[in-house]
Amino acid sequence: MSHPRPDLSVAIGPLRLRNPILLASGTCGYGRELADLVDIGALGGIVLKGISLKPRPGNPPPRIVETPSGLLNAIGLENVGIDTFIERKLPSLREIDTCIVSNILGESVEEYGELARILDMAGGVHAIEVNISCPNVKAGGFAFGTDPAAAAEVTLAVKESTCLPVIVKLSPNVTDITAIARAVEKAGADALSLVNTLFGMAIDIRRRRPALANVFGGLSGPAIRPVALRMVWQTVRAVGIPVIGIGGIRTAGDAIEFLMAGARAVQIGTISLVNPRASTEIISGIESFMREEGFSRITDMRIDR
Ligand SMILES: Cc1cc2nc3c(=O)[nH]c(=O)nc-3n(C[C@H](O)[C@H](O)[C@H](O)COP(=O)(O)O)c2cc1C
Repeated sequence: MSHPRPDLSVAIGPLRLRNPILLASGTCGYGRELADLVDIGALGGIVLKGISLKPRPGNPPPRIVETPSGLLNAIGLENVGIDTFIERKLPSLREIDTCIVSNILGESVEEYGELARILDMAGGVHAIEVNISCPNVKAGGFAFGTDPAAAAEVTLAVKESTCLPVIVKLSPNVTDITAIARAVEKAGADALSLVNTLFGMAIDIRRRRPALANVFGGLSGPAIRPVALRMVWQTVRAVGIPVIGIGGIRTAGDAIEFLMAGARAVQIGTISLVNPRASTEIISGIESFMREEGFSRITDMRIDR
């Protein structure tokens, strides 16, 4: 028996999304790139490519390698920089009827604060996602996201610089993700998103050298899903703020696993590079599943324990 139309809308702090599906940072450019292929207005939201204060050329090639059920990338956070973003990319984003999330990255706590302040004044984005998987250049190069105090410091600097909702994106390259999650929640984050890519590498055996020019890269795609799901499950049970699940989601069933683990929404990354329509197919698939199983709201699917 099929049930009445379910309500797919979700709230992430003050944000209201028409459904729990967003495109993940770095896999949908600055939004417009996919516009001919995907009905962006049908999505819950899009998270734009990470932006830094100054433009970044990224790493030299090769910077993408396929692995079994996954992708290793060492793009090196290439981006146009905040000024060009505001001048050339932001105006057309204002015409899109979906939630626009700007992803930011800095080399120091001050840079994160400055980016948040500039975005707050620019208008046109609905939330900021803070990528804390970047090296803290002033403090020896360890990633902000691997240390609870540094992660909290960045969160605080961003919160103090903007009225926009702040989503902090956690790195999976840690022993206990809940320690970072709690520190970031205490510093005032409105929501968390996890996970970013897992640190990895591959070797080109014919050339006897690492396959990526940068040697190391970030692993994404279906290969990381069980790890991401485990971290989302743990984090949901460690904090009170909403959690957005990310990592290897390929189908509606994969997305539902994260929603059952307690994620309020999910982001779709690498699979869009294989099938650009995956995100909208996932939305229809979730709706069909809810009808079949008699769920009327997304949060009803959560496993309570
Ligand atoms: C090519 C590429 C570029 C990415 N760029 C960014 C980025 O700029 N900022 C960020 O926070 N995450 C970035 N990510 C990480 C994704 O947003 C996502 O967290 C990760 O890929 C896991 O999800 P997936 O397995 O669905 O791809 C990037 C991932 C890929 C594959």
